Amino acid sequence: MKPHTTSPKTPRTYRVKSFGCQMNVYDGERMGELLAEKGIVPAPEGEEADLVVLNTCHIREKAAEKVYSDIGRLRREDGTSPLIAVAGCVAQAEGEEIMARAPAVSMVVGPQAYHRLPEMLDKAVKGERATDTDMPAIAKFDQLPKRKRRSPTAFLTVQEGCDKFCTYCVVPYTRGAEISRPYSDLIDEAHRLIEAGAREITLLGQNVNAWSGEDDKGRRLGLAGLIRALAKLDGMERIRYTTSHPNDMEDDLIAAHGEVAELMPYLHLPVQSGNNRVLKAMNRAHTAEGYLRLLERFREARPDIALSGDFIVGFPGETEAEFEDTLRLVDEVRYAAAFSFKYSPRPGTPAATMDNQIAKEVMDDRLQRLQARLNRDQLAFNQASVGKTCKVLVERKGKHEGQWLGKSPWLQSVWFDAPAAIGDMIEAELVEAGPNSIRGLVRERVASFG
Ligand code: SAH
Ligand code: SF4
Ligand code: F3S
Repeated sequence: MKPHTTSPKTPRTYRVKSFGCQMNVYDGERMGELLAEKGIVPAPEGEEADLVVLNTCHIREKAAEKVYSDIGRLRREDGTSPLIAVAGCVAQAEGEEIMARAPAVSMVVGPQAYHRLPEMLDKAVKGERATDTDMPAIAKFDQLPKRKRRSPTAFLTVQEGCDKFCTYCVVPYTRGAEISRPYSDLIDEAHRLIEAGAREITLLGQNVNAWSGEDDKGRRLGLAGLIRALAKLDGMERIRYTTSHPNDMEDDLIAAHGEVAELMPYLHLPVQSGNNRVLKAMNRAHTAEGYLRLLERFREARPDIALSGDFIVGFPGETEAEFEDTLRLVDEVRYAAAFSFKYSPRPGTPAATMDNQIAKEVMDDRLQRLQARLNRDQLAFNQASVGKTCKVLVERKGKHEGQWLGKSPWLQSVWFDAPAAIGDMIEAELVEAGPNSIRGLVRERVASFG
């Protein structure tokens, strides 16, 4: 095959495309900040970037396969491509395969190694291809530039990696072992985000509620302690966190929902299945009843809390009766929002080689039935909000001229027609609910951004 040619010159512009979870979005922003230090700027909308970073997700087969079509799409008519770096979880899991299959890619960098992207880029402009999927013991975070992001909402990774090894999941292999970032680094990063205009910070971790650390006085803290400290920062108005695991839930986090005004009334707590045999085969290490009891305690602490979850249908061996247990659990919880997926066998995970893989048609049918209930409950939750007045943090312009979009405390999208600006906190009455958004009437402009 003719060797693939890339532009050998130093790139002036970049574009990062992030797929998958919010942590990838965070990592994508940090890679952008690294590139900015080298004087490389974001490519203007609609223009080709000199350097494209595909920040990939390996969670399901479809997500992972996407990287190859994306690489193909970057190919120009003359057969050349911009400089391409593949980052994220596919890079970690399939780095060598990408290098072999896609000659247009000059850099492959894993989620724990992207602080070394600038050095790799120096090599790439000289035509040297490089792969870095090390999982160094020293945290990459120490080597990243200070945050510069200017936005009313921001992500902050506080914990990364996973030691849970659910039998279907690649994350423990792509993100590595659980680590907690130090308390003082997080307070510092949160300060900078607020200084740059953030009013809402979402704390991220694959098992965010497994975060632990020590405060300035050497006292041991869990996530709730971190949230209580962050809530005291001047200018911090809203705190969210995701994703939690039922087994790491500490009492104080539940209590914090009733006590910390800045902590938003929302909990994303994946359960995957409502059947105990399936949960055990998934290595979730909790029962459906234990999960329901936990949610009950959150509701006692914060009666209006919006609950959300993740579900997998068609895990190997799942019977119709076992699937119906999931439907029953959904009927009992009445989620405000949820994400549901067909089981996707992932290379190297124990479930991929289990007996009784479920036929695609059965999975399609189950997913449809599950989603019908989840959609029913999401609409009902939104409809029950009509008549309430709440704060809405304005995040962006809406589809139509003069329309704005923001989030309610319960993470609902609220749109309204009234003069506003990004970063405004407005007081709105929720007047009309759809499945995915709610119309608001502005009662008051509480405060504005910047
Ligand atoms: N640590 C988080 C993130 C997991 S990935 C958590 O435990 O929630 C997000 C969701 O993707 C999971 O909750 C699960 O519902 C889904 N998922 C993970 N692996 C999957 C697979 N092999 N097939 C289908 N869905 C999967
Ligand atoms: Fe994957 Fe389970 Fe870890 Fe979540 S807790 S990242 S589903 S292994
Ligand atoms: Fe995907 Fe990796 Fe996140 S596999 S969901 S990008 S941790």
